[in-house]
Amino acid sequence: MQATDNLADSRYARMRWNTPLSEEHAALLLRRLDVRPGARVLDLGCGWGELLLRAVAAGGVSGALATRGVGVDTDDAALARGRRAAAGRSLDRHVAFVMGEAAAWQEPADRVLCVGSAHAFGGTGAALDALATVVRPGGRLLFGDTYWERPPTPDTEQIFGPEVTDLPGLVEVARERGWRVLHLSTADQREWDDFESTWLAGRQEWLLRYPEDPRAADVRAELDDRLRQYVGGYRGVLGLAYLVLGR
Ligand SMILES: C[S@@+](CC[C@H](N)C(=O)[O-])C[C@H]1O[C@@H](n2cnc3c(N)ncnc32)[C@H](O)[C@@H]1O
Repeated sequence: MQATDNLADSRYARMRWNTPLSEEHAALLLRRLDVRPGARVLDLGCGWGELLLRAVAAGGVSGALATRGVGVDTDDAALARGRRAAAGRSLDRHVAFVMGEAAAWQEPADRVLCVGSAHAFGGTGAALDALATVVRPGGRLLFGDTYWERPPTPDTEQIFGPEVTDLPGLVEVARERGWRVLHLSTADQREWDDFESTWLAGRQEWLLRYPEDPRAADVRAELDDRLRQYVGGYRGVLGLAYLVLGR
């Protein structure tokens, strides 16, 4: 059986968002982000913008005080998925998905999201400095970033880079850059396992469906490597912290 061109589409197909996060945890973060009616919401490195859409909906989109949002990313397919989702929820007049470099965006907003995208700015410290210029005074930033839950092996450290620190270190980087921590929570093991599983699941299903496809051997090897790296390397070692920050 030959696959059509749906291998690319299958990559993120099983993911609600591209970060280890349960529905319940997302709802908590959005409450702590406290989006007010009429707010401007900006998501830098938004992917398909599921959290952005929920943040805008939480602020309310009716009447003169309609909340508006902008998501910025460099992934065309993700942006297209975001636009389809916005249209499906009648949010397309309120949320724009823009192709662009996160670090080049300059228009400030009341609520800013940057989840799993600090690398788009060159790392944690550079991201927290740049984001300070796009959060309006009195505004809030939802910042999701990695940290070491336990000391990594040298191989694991090499995958994620030398800038990742432990959780106290991450909090200190934010504090040194003038941010106050209004909320802190971390992804738990089940959120991580679900994230890693759903990241693989779209292509696992594709493989089961198209085992004879010429691309199947490469895809199988890639998925096997990633699962090995996770269970044998960074599972329980790499953490993801969600900070709601103000300044
Ligand atoms: C781990 S994903 C997180 C996506 C989204 N924040 C979420 O939680 O679902 C990181 C995102 O950063 C985007 N990205 C990477 N480099 C970028 C850049 N230079 N400018 C804008 N977005 C970038 C990727 O395309 C990807 O969508």
